[in-house]
This record gives sequence, C-alpha cells and structure tokens, in this order.
Amino acid sequence: MSAPLRSLTLSLPDEAATEALARQFAPLVSGAGGGPVGGRIHLQGDLGAGKTAFTRALLRECGITGRIKSPSYALLESYKVSNLYFYHFDFYRFTDSREWLDAGFRDLLRDEAIVLIEWPERAGGLLPPPDMQISLVYAEPGREVTLTAHTARGQTWLNAIVPPPPVPSPPAAPSAGA
Ligand SMILES: Nc1ncnc2c1ncn2[C@@H]1O[C@H](COP(=O)(O)OP(=O)(O)OP(=O)(O)O)[C@@H](O)[C@H]1O
Ligand SMILES: [Mg+2]
Repeated sequence: MSAPLRSLTLSLPDEAATEALARQFAPLVSGAGGGPVGGRIHLQGDLGAGKTAFTRALLRECGITGRIKSPSYALLESYKVSNLYFYHFDFYRFTDSREWLDAGFRDLLRDEAIVLIEWPERAGGLLPPPDMQISLVYAEPGREVTLTAHTARGQTWLNAIVPPPPVPSPPAAPSAGA
C-alpha cells in the first residue's frame, strides 16, 4: 500500500477553479459528508492570491446567504448556520497578541467550529497547527495551490479532494511538410 498523501499541489487556472476547490471542502467541514463537524484551515499567499475568494465560496456552499465581508479590518467575521459555527479571521493587520487574548479568540478554536484564517503567520506562535494549510501562489495561468495536511482530520480531507481535470494542451501543430 502506498504512503498516505500528505500534500497535494493543483493548478487553479481561473477564479472558477478556486471556487470549485473551495466547494469541495463544504461537506468535509460541515459533517454533510459523514465525517466530524469542524476544522481549522490556514490560508497563506500574497495579497490578492485568493484567500478570501476561497473562503467565500466555501461559506456560500455551507449555506451562508448574506454578505460575506473580508475580515481585513475587523479581524474576524463570524457566521452561524443551524448548528454550525464559522469563524473567518484575517490577521494581516494583527499587531498585538493581547488583542487576541483579550478578545477571547482562542476560545473560538474549538474542535467543532469551522475556522478559516488568512495571514496566520502574522499571529506568530499563538495559533495551534491547522488541520490543513492552503498555500496559494501566483502562476500562469491563474494560481497554484498546495494543500498540506497537519492532522488526521486534514489527512482525511486531503484523500477526499478530487483534483480538477488537467487543462487540455493546445493541439499539436501540423508537422512541417505535411
Ligand atoms: N485561480 C485564480 N486565477 C486567477 N484569479 C483568481 C483565482 N482565484 C481567485 N482569483 C482572483 O484573485 C483575487 C483574489 O482576491 P482575494 O481578496 O480573494 O485575495 P486575498 O488572498 O484574500 O488577499 P488579501 O491578502 O488582500 O486578503 C480576486 O480578484 C479573484 O477574482
Ligand atoms: Mg483576503
């Protein structure tokens, strides 16, 4: 038997591909796929890499219907759908770890909560390792994403992700003299 996959790199040629990948996470974190409810995802990547776009598509697929704002200023946007609790953090402007402790953010990292964190590296060592790290980098075309599992739960998710079909390569040019 081959070793379980710990990390997976995929091409996301356009925003629709980012959204399609994000939608695959909805049944995994919401329990709709038969697994446990909850999970923590860290989203890394430069400004505009697609961290919020990914999160929005995941939240929509989980049934969140209102406006989904980027938490760049508020640090946290939270949502509740039936018995599911979602916390979307963005630590880009995070400066003071007391802010984290005073706001009681740590209490939100419960096993059954669904937590998505943009710019987790800005929170220094305050965060426990996520179930999955999602790294987005600019590529041609679009973006390249690497999914890395850090826990057994993340490992289960990784095995459930269906890679998108490869982008068809352009037809071969007719050979000279044909
Ligand atoms: N695979 C893709 N290929 C090309 N464009 C994409 C892809 N995925 C998302 N985008 C586009 O990239 C932009 C991503 O913006 P988004 O706000 O999600 O970035 P972000 O990583 O959250 O940035 P920030 O660090 O500022 O929060 C959007 O304009 C979106 O349409
Ligand atoms: Mg963002």
